[in-house]
Amino acid sequence: MSLAQKYSQEIQAIFAKYPPEQKRSAIMSLLYLAQREEGYISQEAMKEIADMLEISVTEVAGVAGFYTLFHRQKEGKYRIQVCTDLPCALRGADSFLQELAQALGVRPGETTPDGRFTLEEVMCVGACHRAPVFQVQHGDTITFHENMSLEEALAVLKKLE
Ligand code: FES
Repeated sequence: MSLAQKYSQEIQAIFAKYPPEQKRSAIMSLLYLAQREEGYISQEAMKEIADMLEISVTEVAGVAGFYTLFHRQKEGKYRIQVCTDLPCALRGADSFLQELAQALGVRPGETTPDGRFTLEEVMCVGACHRAPVFQVQHGDTITFHENMSLEEALAVLKKLE
């Protein structure tokens, strides 16, 4: 079932917030809706959003691809997103990521075989002076974890299980 069929009232409410000539501004809300439905932004959802906004699929993909909170593939139940941007790298984020990857038995970008964790490398999440830092994304919730050691990070993940 399409987003428009399943969420017609919600979509109407989203579009009501914008003048018709600026309806493309609804893109973030529509992407959020699509991800809430499937856990990621599928090609079909991008096509539907593009049609609703009368823009190209490439434009929708460009926005979806820009934000680390939008996902293009179905992944693990929990997304472990480690910031490795420059300020965090200066505080050891790269080696933290590698240690965490080794402990989980995956490489960055991969999902653990049990489907629980996807380890991702992301750009600044706004906690530069408290690196190593990662966020855990699960459905609609995000939790931040700062000044992490490997042991502390594994304890956080264990609590999720
Ligand atoms: S650079 Fe990592 S949180 Fe800002």
